[in-house]
Amino acid sequence: MSERTKRSDYIEWAKTQSHAKFTLAASGIPHFPIADLGASMEDIEISGPSWYGYEPLQQAMAEKCGVSVDAVVAATGTSMANFMAMAAIIEPGDEVIIERPAYDPLVSAAGFLGAVVKRFDRRFEDGFRIDPREVEKQISKRTKLIVFTNLHNPTSVFTDTQTLRQIGDIAREAGARVLIDEVYLEALFEKSPGSAFHLGSEFVTTCSLTKAYGLSGLRCGWILAEPELAKKIWRVNDLFGNIPAHSAERLSVVALDNLQKITDRAQALLDFNRPLLEAFLDSRTDLETIRPGVGTVVAPRLKSGKIEALCSLLVEKYETSIVPGRFFEMPDHFRIGISCDSENLKSGLERLAQALDEIKV
Ligand SMILES: Cc1ncc(COP(=O)(O)O)c(C=O)c1O
Repeated sequence: MSERTKRSDYIEWAKTQSHAKFTLAASGIPHFPIADLGASMEDIEISGPSWYGYEPLQQAMAEKCGVSVDAVVAATGTSMANFMAMAAIIEPGDEVIIERPAYDPLVSAAGFLGAVVKRFDRRFEDGFRIDPREVEKQISKRTKLIVFTNLHNPTSVFTDTQTLRQIGDIAREAGARVLIDEVYLEALFEKSPGSAFHLGSEFVTTCSLTKAYGLSGLRCGWILAEPELAKKIWRVNDLFGNIPAHSAERLSVVALDNLQKITDRAQALLDFNRPLLEAFLDSRTDLETIRPGVGTVVAPRLKSGKIEALCSLLVEKYETSIVPGRFFEMPDHFRIGISCDSENLKSGLERLAQALDEIKV
């Protein structure tokens, strides 16, 4: 029997090699400074009453998502939310169908849990949209879970309600559930249609304040699941720890109370940066890009040339980082993020243009 997955090459790369003077590899809004949060020392405490959730935080997350408190499981970021939801649903040998291209930890976590991982493709030619027929092709009686991201990482493509409902129908008929990582849906802000959780009990969704708000260090994540499953997920959480970092829970309540201010900062940055990206893409005939017009990342395809050569040149000569597409199972593509500081984005894109010109000759 082959060994279970016990690592994520992408996360290791992101931690050790994605940082440069001009980082285009990041996918989240820059850190929101604590000085701007409006928190006082009285808001923070080291320890407190947090058992199956800290009540004020449970209330705040439930209110934000428009759900009842018993449908919300607190988690250490979307990462742990994904892991716990999978762990509660999957038995070793169960089939799990995951999108491709995919954010690696989703695939690796399913492998770690002993799932038989099957894939459905989101194709460049289809604008990376989900085709429910591709999902249906992979379904069997052993399928327990269908997994994807909305917005899609690495392309930011949005999956609409009609498609979600179709996938929900496929899952229900097979007795499976649908797990959707919605961490980038938050970056739609007031244009977000809301969580797919609202579409039916087969939907389980995960999210956090990480990407759209610049609050990654709070690790404020959550899972929305029908209450019986939510209880199971809380019990899985018991295996990983007795109590959470209470000061982070307290700060998360303050952040959720002030979310409009935090949203305004993020929205203004993305609104300013998006035209910079569009102008860059307009100027490049050597790239083909699905441009969803939303989200924090895009994944251009390099029409000819080697991505690895481009990445090395960018790092070594231009002090600029992008994500090589191989980490998303799309070796002809690379991912760039637009949620960084605007000066960083301008300089990074200029350098990317120079490197692209250089590998052409
Ligand atoms: C799809 C997706 N889910 C989850 C995460 C991690 O989120 P968190 O920091 O809240 O654990 C990332 C980070 O890149 C991501 O791209």
